[in-house]
Amino acid sequence: MIPDQAPKEDVFLGCEEMKKEAHVPSFEKYKELYLKSIDNPDEFWGDVAKDFFWKTKHSGQFLDYNFDVTKGEIFVKCMEGASTNICYNLLDRNVHERKLGDKVAFYWEGNEPGDELTVTYRELLQRVCQFANVLKSQGVKKGDRVSIYMPMVVELVVAMLACVRIGAVHSIVFAGFSAESLCERILDSQCSLLVTADGFYRGDKLINLKFLADEALQKCRDKGFPVKRCIMLKHLSKEAEETPLGSHSPPAKRSCPDLQVPWNPDVDLCWHTLVHGASDECEPEWCESEDPLFILYTSGSTGKPKGVLHTVSGYMLYTAVTFKLVFDYQPDDVYWCTADIGWITGHSYITYGPLANGATSVLFEGLPTYPDVSRMWEIVDKYQVTKFYTAPTAIRLLMKYGSEPVQKYKRESLKVLGTVGEPINPEAWQWYYNVVGEKRCPIVDTFWQTETGGHVLTPLPAATPMKPGSATFPFFGVVPAILNESGEELEGPSEGYLVFKQPWPGVMRTVYGNQQRFETTYFKKFPGYYVTGDGCRRDKDGYYWITGRIDDMLNVSGHLLSTAEVESALVEHEVVAEAAVVGRPHPVKGESLYCFVTLTDGVTYNRALEAELRKQVREKIGAIATPDYIQEAPGLPKTRSGKIMRRVLRKIACDERDLGDISTLADSSVVDQLFQNRCCTV
Ligand code: WTA
Repeated sequence: MIPDQAPKEDVFLGCEEMKKEAHVPSFEKYKELYLKSIDNPDEFWGDVAKDFFWKTKHSGQFLDYNFDVTKGEIFVKCMEGASTNICYNLLDRNVHERKLGDKVAFYWEGNEPGDELTVTYRELLQRVCQFANVLKSQGVKKGDRVSIYMPMVVELVVAMLACVRIGAVHSIVFAGFSAESLCERILDSQCSLLVTADGFYRGDKLINLKFLADEALQKCRDKGFPVKRCIMLKHLSKEAEETPLGSHSPPAKRSCPDLQVPWNPDVDLCWHTLVHGASDECEPEWCESEDPLFILYTSGSTGKPKGVLHTVSGYMLYTAVTFKLVFDYQPDDVYWCTADIGWITGHSYITYGPLANGATSVLFEGLPTYPDVSRMWEIVDKYQVTKFYTAPTAIRLLMKYGSEPVQKYKRESLKVLGTVGEPINPEAWQWYYNVVGEKRCPIVDTFWQTETGGHVLTPLPAATPMKPGSATFPFFGVVPAILNESGEELEGPSEGYLVFKQPWPGVMRTVYGNQQRFETTYFKKFPGYYVTGDGCRRDKDGYYWITGRIDDMLNVSGHLLSTAEVESALVEHEVVAEAAVVGRPHPVKGESLYCFVTLTDGVTYNRALEAELRKQVREKIGAIATPDYIQEAPGLPKTRSGKIMRRVLRKIACDERDLGDISTLADSSVVDQLFQNRCCTV
C-alpha cells in the first residue's frame, strides 16, 4: 500500500517552484486522489471524462471486467453505451470549442538541421480530414485495418488520425522493421491498404522505405493475400518541396535526387495527387467505447508478435490524463518525446495524450547523435522545450560523451524530464538529473508496456519524492501486487512477479484475432491477475523497483525482442541446426544479443557465415535484432528432458563460472567446451 507520508530520507524532492501550480502538488494530494480512484472509480473517471465530447453518454458502471480465467472469459469494458470519436476530441474540440486552432500542434524537426515545419491544430485538422476522405475514396470503411509504415513525419500523424476519424483501425509498423516483419503484421491483421513513404534518412543513412514496402507486399501476394492499395508519400523526392505541410514554414530542404522509387501502377497511388483534390471536411464516424482503435505488435515469448488491441474511450481518457498529470502539462509547455511513433510510447505520448490536451510538441525525425551529440540540447533550446521524455539507452549513449556537449546549450526552459523503456540505472539517472536537468527538474521514471496503454507506475513530478531507478508508485486506478512463485501476494518489502489486480481504462482488450493467446500470456499463470512479465521489488518505503523481464524476452535499447523470434530467424538458415539466444548486459543498449548456433554436420563456422547469419536476422526482423555475438556451439546445454538451460548460457555469455546447480544437465562437458570457445571479442 502507499505510505501515508512520503519518506524524507534518501530521496530527491524535485522543484519547490513547480508545486505552486501543479495539478497534483503534494504527496498527500496524490494519495487522496489515488484512494478516490480506487474506492470511487466512477466519480474519479467521470471527472476525467467531462473534458471530452461524447455523442452519447455511458450508462452503468465505468469499468466492467473479469481478470480470473477460472471464472470465464477475460474481458474489460469501459464506458459501455458511450460513443465518441477520438480524432474529433483531439482536433475539432481543440480548434472549435477550446479555440486552439492557431496553436502549434507540432514543430517538426527533420533529420537534417534546418529542415523544419510548423503545423497548427487547424492545419492538422484540415489535413486529417483530407486524408480521411482519401481513405474513404479508396474503399476503407469503419473496422477495416490499415497498415502504416512511415518515417517520423507529420503525415504519419495525419494518416493515423485519418483512420481514427473514419473508424478504421491503424496498425503502425515501425519503419526500422524489415519487409518480412511488415508482411507478417499485414497478414495477421489482414490490412486492406498500406500507407508508406518513398524513403528517409536516419543520420547519414538512406532508407529506401518504398523498396521494403514493395518487398513486403510481394511476400503478402505470395502468401495469397494481395493488398489492394499502397499510398506513398513523397518525403525525399522533389515534389514534397512544392507542397510542404504547414503554411508558416520555409520550404523543407528535403530532396534526394538519387532515390530510386519502384512503382507498381496496379497498386501504388501517390499521396500528393490523392490529397490534392480531396475535401478538407469530413464528418467523424461515431464509435462505441469498445470499438477497436488500433493494433500494435509487440514481441511474444513464443516468437510470433502479438497484435495488442486498444479500444476507443478507455485509451483516450487514460493517455490524456496520464500525459496531463505525469508531465504536469501546462498550456504554455513545449513538450518533446523522442520516441518513434512506431512504438507505443509514440502512439500514447506523441499523438494521443499530447493532442488530447491541446499541447504543442516537437516531432523529431532524426537521431540524438546526428550531426553531432549536442543535437538534442540544440533542439531543446531552439523550441524552448519544457517537458522532455526519452529512454535510458539514449541517456547512456550521450553520457559517454560527457557533459561538455550538453553544456554547450542552455536548457533553461526544461522543467520535467521523463524516462521510459527499461530500468534506468542510478548512474544514468544521476547524470540526467545533475547534468541535463541541473538538479532543477524532477525525473519521472515511467514504467508501462504496449499492453498497459499508458503509464502504470510513475512518479508525479511535484508530488512524489524520487529515488534514482525506482518507478515509485502506481498511477490512479492501478493496483499493483507482488506475487511469489506460488502466486501468493507478498506484503511489505519483497521481490517477485509484478502483477495488477484490476484493470484501468487504458489496458489492452485482447490479442487481435487470438483471445486464447491473450488469456494464456497475461492471465493464466496467476488467475485473477494481469501478469506483466516483469520482476519487481518493493522497498521499506513502499517504492516499486522494476528488476527486468522474467520471461524469455530481451530489452535491447528499450525495445523488447523475444529470444524465440531471433532463434527462429537463425535456424531458417540452411546450415543452422539449432540456435539459442540470451541477453548479455550492455553498457548503452541495456542488453545485447548473444547467440549460440549449432551447425549441421560437416559445415565449418567462419566469418563469412557469421556475417550471413547476422544479415539473415536483420532481414527477417529488423536492424534492432542484429546479433552482437554469435558463437558456434557443437552442443547446447540441455536437461535430460531436452530443455535448453538458458540460465547456463547466460552465464557463459558473461563468462561467469559460478553456474549453480547443473545436476540436471544431460551432458555437462558441452559447458566446458562453450566456455573455451566464447566469442573472443566480448
Ligand atoms: C520495460 C514500452 C523499467 C519493462 C512503454 C516492460 C521498463 C517493457 C520501464 C515494455 C521503466 C518500460 N522501468 N522497465 N520505466 N518502462 N520498461 O511494450 O520490461 O515496448 O515490460 O512498452 O519495457 O516494453 P514496451
